[in-house]
Amino acid sequence: MLLPLISLVIILLFAFRSSTWIYPAKKLPPGPPGLPLIGNLFQLLGVQRRGKPAIVIGSHKVALDLFEKRGSIYSERPRCIVANEIMTRNLVFAFAPHDNSWRRMRRASHEILNNQIVKNYHKFQNIEAVLLVKDLSKAPEFYIRHIQRATTSSLLSVIYGLPPCPDPFDPTLMLVTDLTQSVLDAAAPGQHLVEYFPFLRYLPSRLCSWKRHAEHVFQIADSVFGDLYRQVEKRAERAWLAGTLYAAGSETTSKQMLWFLLSMAIYPDIQAKAQKQIDDIIGRERLPNLDDFERLPYVRALIKELLRWRGVGPFGIPHALSEDDYYEGYLIPKGTDCIVNVWALNHDQDVYGSDADFFRPERHLDQDGQLKLVASRETKDEGHNTFGFGRRDIEKRVSRICVGRHVAVNSLFIQMTCILWCFNITPAEDETGKPIFIDENEMIEDGLTVRPLPINRYKFTQRFPEMEELVMNVLELDGRDHLDTED
Ligand code: HEM
Repeated sequence: MLLPLISLVIILLFAFRSSTWIYPAKKLPPGPPGLPLIGNLFQLLGVQRRGKPAIVIGSHKVALDLFEKRGSIYSERPRCIVANEIMTRNLVFAFAPHDNSWRRMRRASHEILNNQIVKNYHKFQNIEAVLLVKDLSKAPEFYIRHIQRATTSSLLSVIYGLPPCPDPFDPTLMLVTDLTQSVLDAAAPGQHLVEYFPFLRYLPSRLCSWKRHAEHVFQIADSVFGDLYRQVEKRAERAWLAGTLYAAGSETTSKQMLWFLLSMAIYPDIQAKAQKQIDDIIGRERLPNLDDFERLPYVRALIKELLRWRGVGPFGIPHALSEDDYYEGYLIPKGTDCIVNVWALNHDQDVYGSDADFFRPERHLDQDGQLKLVASRETKDEGHNTFGFGRRDIEKRVSRICVGRHVAVNSLFIQMTCILWCFNITPAEDETGKPIFIDENEMIEDGLTVRPLPINRYKFTQRFPEMEELVMNVLELDGRDHLDTED
């Protein structure tokens, strides 16, 4: 009898804590009215609350003002009990507090992923892209798995120095995909009541399946990342840093590749333009590689457009504010979750024009077909905001912007270029021989990321007969060193 009563009192206390009553309403940024007790808990696209205030940013100006000009106080992460504290014990620095431990891990990541050093990984990424087109020509029905394999395996090489893993159904690769998905799901807003009522964290595991699941994920991840790390070095304390990079990079890049296939299947004219540039520059005698990066501006514009038009993280990863701040006369209290509507920014007609909703790589090119040098101040010349926010010049100390973006762009470039060099991508046909309809607006939300529906199937038609032989030649020559090292 007493327990329910105590619980009710605690819930009410937390609810009052989370209400706007502790802050004078007129000073807070404007937002939709909240329901009594639960605030805006169920209006996740409006103001999201995990027992505390949140702001949703939908303008470039505000995002730049807060995350760049005032980056030192807007680079915290919201508390995330299940994904961060239980599932990964604060060891995944992408979700971890903005403290000295984060700074050490960010600096170490920057050292192995900066713009200069990523050139050292070209050879791994090149060979993975060739393996990818070989797999696509042999078993196109498993295209999702092949893309996941290529992306994940090239990160295994970049981060752990391991040779390519050629088996698309390799148990370790599949396990890492599942683990990453579990963390992404748990980090998504609204997943667990405990984020709103943190005292639930102290309930015994035997009473809560979510807690048992989170603890189970930690045990598995700890053993997988530990095993991977021990294969290359004995210093297990760095295992989670490497594991974070591996997990953060694999799902994001693979899902972005799935959007690439969709865009090519429904925009054949853009596919043809990219293929024309690839054919003109590379020809049919050899496969593309990352040395071709500078020579293929249309493909680079295509990557920018893909990241803008269908970026995999519509809300990025939320930031949080580490001290009270005033912006345009409004108080933003310490601890506020700061969520950016990246999707809205990427489709902002003031920046991209009235055709912002259309897929049009040309918008990133000048009249000579070269990438625009100064694309836009709002996007720091990236042409999109899909890699998040933070100053580039002091990235190691403050910024939360994606630390893996250079590796990601290189992976996208070489996988996309090799696929376009080898295949025409079209929608698959139904039983009557009619191309299936692919809706660019339908998507699946996976925690913090979005991907196209799996029913979207494609036909990969080889563009010329010598392709397979050339692919096998590259694998025999360039791949031998990498593929045989397991023996
Ligand atoms: C298309 C691919 C990718 C996309 C769209 C992407 C996007 C993002 C975004 C939106 C953030 C949060 C930025 C912010 O807080 O404002 C982020 C952070 C991060 N990304 Fe990526 N990412 C990609 C690939 C990668 C790769 C390949 C790696 C590793 C090799 C990686 C590692 C990380 C890490 C470790 C963080 C956390 C940074 C921090 O909190 O300090 N990402 N990414």
